[in-house]
Amino acid sequence: MKSFGCQFARNLAQLALVILAAPAFAQLGAAPPIMPTQPLPYQSPHQTQGTVTCASSLCHGSIKRWKDSNVLQNEYVTWSRTDKHAKAYNKLLNAQSQKIARNLGLKEPAHESKICLDCHAHAVPVERHGERFKPTDGIICEACHGPAEKWIKSHVEPDASHDRNIENGLYPTSDAASRAKMCLACHFGNKDKLVTHRIMGAGHPRMSFELDTFTEIAPKHFVIDKDYSERKRVWEGAKVWAIGQAYAVADTMDILVDEKLGRDGLFPELVLFDCHACHHPMSEGRWKPKTAFGPSIAPGLVRLNDSNMLMLRALAFSLDTGAGERISNQTRKLHRAVAGEGDARVEAMALKKVAADLVPLISERNLDINIIRAIALRLVDDGLSGYYSDYAAAEQAAMAISSVGSFLAKQGGMRNTAGFNDSLRKLNVSLANDERYKPQEFMARLRDVRTTLAK
Ligand code: HEC
Ligand code: HEC
Ligand code: HEC
Ligand code: HEC
Repeated sequence: MKSFGCQFARNLAQLALVILAAPAFAQLGAAPPIMPTQPLPYQSPHQTQGTVTCASSLCHGSIKRWKDSNVLQNEYVTWSRTDKHAKAYNKLLNAQSQKIARNLGLKEPAHESKICLDCHAHAVPVERHGERFKPTDGIICEACHGPAEKWIKSHVEPDASHDRNIENGLYPTSDAASRAKMCLACHFGNKDKLVTHRIMGAGHPRMSFELDTFTEIAPKHFVIDKDYSERKRVWEGAKVWAIGQAYAVADTMDILVDEKLGRDGLFPELVLFDCHACHHPMSEGRWKPKTAFGPSIAPGLVRLNDSNMLMLRALAFSLDTGAGERISNQTRKLHRAVAGEGDARVEAMALKKVAADLVPLISERNLDINIIRAIALRLVDDGLSGYYSDYAAAEQAAMAISSVGSFLAKQGGMRNTAGFNDSLRKLNVSLANDERYKPQEFMARLRDVRTTLAK
């Protein structure tokens, strides 16, 4: 079987640079609801107004930031010039997309196919198009902030408040759980849209996502300062990472049990499995008798991609032993059920619940320096125990260590930030190519990371 190239070295290469980019602000402001209930922007019943509505130079299209406004006002310029979301529709016109569409045998070209537009544009039914909305503008402001029909006027009134804007349909991007659900919808997939193994086989790049890392590496059109913290809750980076993991597990479970999305003929949807379970030379001898979730079930099985479960397990054990055991036992039951020893549907839904139950625990818990360090060390030590034998897990672990480590540094809990950055950079080098991933090399780099994390 042929192999496929890694596209993600570019994301990881930027990771080591995030550490001291933003100052830490104490958590202030009232806590918003924990489990998101709002429809996602593409599900909203309201009409989309279009980027021109946001882009005037007196609104969010200023060339320079305003001094006397609590938001930057140059968001449109940042987005249109530097944000990849602005070009996501245009990518559907390129040769790679044409090839993907051809290979899939789509009736329409990629830029007219719903299956592609769902994630590369703000795809909503025509009756919800405002007069000035252009579907070809890509992933516009309203694709993340929600269709503005009902909040466009009220959000600029003198007595406007964030809560009232949300009541009028502004999507709560500032809330970690709501953000997770929204970004993951396109960067992982959900019941409405998914990059399937067929789409990947046709030439789509492999997907890789971690909420805190991707929030950090996207060009910033907002600043988290004192004024921000008076208007909105500031979510610590480590919590954003943790909540992103919980939702990734929950969404994976939804797709796994979905009658349509979860299957492909006689097979389950392969995109949910460890890619290198199949895509590796037979001489490699990858099987290990032990995993983080207990003894391996048997050699020769196609294993679910459990990288997000591994992250969640490390986090949960650091917060509460009982929670750690619940994630660990339930993931093991799911692996067994997928291998035929149990009902995979039942175990998947149980794991979804265990993951979702962690969200309030994470949201409310005060993550002090000791807990943060414990999480970081656990992530490293799991690696040193050989638990990141597949690339996807190692990649998630590197992003996790970067996110949690950054937060530790911001809180003043790291003595040798330069050393940490340097060891992280080398760790990322060992991930530069997924097909040449060597767990031993990754472990050696992890040992150096560990030294910089110790008190
Ligand atoms: C579930 C959402 C989703 C679907 C469905 C989807 N994509 Fe993507 N696509 C993405 C995301 C997210 C990325 C960016 C991955 C990254 O860089 O992390 C991407 C990246 C790409 C790229 C590479 C862009 C670059 O920067 O070079 C191409 C080309 C592409 N998609 C084409 C398509 C085509 C054609 C279809 C329809 C057959 C499609 N996509 C369907 C989410 C999706
Ligand atoms: C890919 C998703 C995404 C897109 C596209 C996007 N934003 Fe944002 N935006 C965010 C996130 C995430 C935040 C930070 C969390 C928050 O405060 O809501 C944010 C914050 C903001 C803020 C709040 C800053 C503050 O201090 O309260 C404004 C204003 C804003 N965006 C305007 C825009 C405009 C205008 C566009 C289009 C030109 C746009 N955004 C496009 C995700 C997005
Ligand atoms: C409507 C679907 C959609 C939503 C919602 C969305 N993205 Fe994206 N995102 C994409 C696609 C598609 C690309 C690839 C664009 C390209 O390369 O042309 C992308 C690219 C990115 C990239 C650039 C990755 C790289 O390889 O350089 C980052 C970072 C990113 N998204 C972060 C986020 C975050 C954070 C959120 C939530 C606040 C979010 N995205 C919400 C679809 C989406
Ligand atoms: C159960 C085994 C299995 C798993 C798991 C699996 N694949 Fe595949 N993959 C296949 C098979 C079989 C083919 C078809 C190979 C052929 O046509 O020669 C394939 C083809 C591909 C191709 C096209 C390569 C080609 O030679 O045409 C890509 C790209 C790909 N897979 C990516 C992935 C990614 C990314 C993952 C993980 C998210 C993954 N696969 C998981 C079995 C698997």
